[in-house]
Amino acid sequence: MRLEVGSRAPETVATPLMAVLVAADRPFEELDALDRAAGGMLRRAVGAGDFKGREGDRVLGYGGGWEDWAPAPAWTGKGPGRVLFMGVGDSASLTPERMRRAGGGAVRAAEDQRVSELALNLDHLGAAVDAAGVQSAAEGMVLAAWRFRELKSARNGGGGHGPGDAEGVRGERTPPLVESAALVGGGASRWEAPVRIARAFAEGQNLARTLQARPGNVATPSHLAAEAERIAAEAGLECEILGPGELESERMGALLAVARGSREEPRLIVLRHRGGEAGAAPLVLVGKGLTFDAGGISLKPPKGMEKMKYDMSGGAAVLGAMLAIGRLGLPVNVTAVVPSSENLPGGSATKPGDVVRSRAGKTIEVINTDAEGRLILADALHYAAEWRPAAIVDCATLTGACVVALGHHRSALLGSDDGLVEELRAAGDRAGEPCWPLPLDGRYRRQLKSDVADLKNVGGRPAGTITAACFLSEFVGSAPWAHLDIAGTAYGKTRKPYLADGPAGVPCRLLLEWVRARAGP
Ligand code: BES
Ligand code: MN
Ligand code: ZN
Repeated sequence: MRLEVGSRAPETVATPLMAVLVAADRPFEELDALDRAAGGMLRRAVGAGDFKGREGDRVLGYGGGWEDWAPAPAWTGKGPGRVLFMGVGDSASLTPERMRRAGGGAVRAAEDQRVSELALNLDHLGAAVDAAGVQSAAEGMVLAAWRFRELKSARNGGGGHGPGDAEGVRGERTPPLVESAALVGGGASRWEAPVRIARAFAEGQNLARTLQARPGNVATPSHLAAEAERIAAEAGLECEILGPGELESERMGALLAVARGSREEPRLIVLRHRGGEAGAAPLVLVGKGLTFDAGGISLKPPKGMEKMKYDMSGGAAVLGAMLAIGRLGLPVNVTAVVPSSENLPGGSATKPGDVVRSRAGKTIEVINTDAEGRLILADALHYAAEWRPAAIVDCATLTGACVVALGHHRSALLGSDDGLVEELRAAGDRAGEPCWPLPLDGRYRRQLKSDVADLKNVGGRPAGTITAACFLSEFVGSAPWAHLDIAGTAYGKTRKPYLADGPAGVPCRLLLEWVRARAGP
């Protein structure tokens, strides 16, 4: 979606739909000119007690310029064709998340009206909307406009081409793509910077969602590697891809052990953004890029197994974040590492009881081949820790136990460094991708003791998310490190006005807010 900032008087903006955000605690009379131009419905709805400016309150009016009947009334495009007043609640409680929901809700309204462009008018919010609010509204719009249609035929509105308004084979009409949006209002001269950030963040996240949505037979490890190369070229990053030969030379026995059951070759993807001082310790983002998790020999049950194409969500979020970091040229060094493999039960697959040697030299007894994420991350984290990074943050759809503990509304957050954990928690709140800490103390480590190797890859049922993080902590050396378990948040049915059900791109915005804070003002 194209997104721009416009500063023209709202009544004169030619758009099929102007969504006007209305604060409950500010005088509605300020909207009089717009309301009159749109038939005076707001005045009537306020009088009737139907519109109070609460979140969810809406009034739709139609602007002038609709030509007379004959053959049918047509909008001539002078000023807004439709004006939608949308309550956002009290201006005092106007959080970034509320603005994100409002931006997303406006795009959904455009879809409902079957128009492909809109303007979002922020004038009524006055000083209550700051740079973070503008950024959030713009993020909400770009995120809401995302679709995944590349695998549908054109007659089903697919291919990413055409008007997207075709009759489906079952007769349903897919709503049009919202292709362009403008933010309008008196403050517009100050909005270029937050809108630029929003565009980069949300487009990075949308890329993550697209990679997530691609099925396992498309989004293979080599596909993710090719996408990383494309991202590097587009965003000015360095890209390095390690294949089986390099992984052998690097002695990444844990990653290779997971890949053995599949004919798809593993990859380790490295992207570098050098935005900071030469030689300054980088921030490292690590993402699990398991492109399909059948469980290996410890095969998963069939029900819902198709969802395990999403087991590369952490890697997707990291790649999306790097696209945004590069495009924005954030003044900090950031390196991304995405270990990528399939986890299948092929004839040469690793078996329960097998002992593998990780890059760190620690031997691991593989009790359950379905606990594969920690294996591929172990080698990636150890590789990254050698660079003496300022901090390492990894994100992974790591444990079903995390879904039990926190459900679908918060990611789990664990780490070796309390300061880093708090930075990430706060970044998640700003980004509208909240997470919550779990303890990572040494007593849980005992559950990973092995009779035959240095440690085993599962710690039993109690505290499954914590013991998984304990396992990872064995491979990060002394680097400040934190881990986000996104098993419950990376995809699913927690629809928000700006985020459809399905792949969510979490925690792309959290990572970006954190990196931006580290980069300084
Ligand atoms: N990818 C799964 C975790 C997962 C579960 C993600 C549900 C999203 C939704 C991971 O590789 C896995 O299979 N974990 C096992 C670990 C267990 C064997 C210790 C699990 O959580 O069941
Ligand atoms: Mn698994
Ligand atoms: Zn997995």
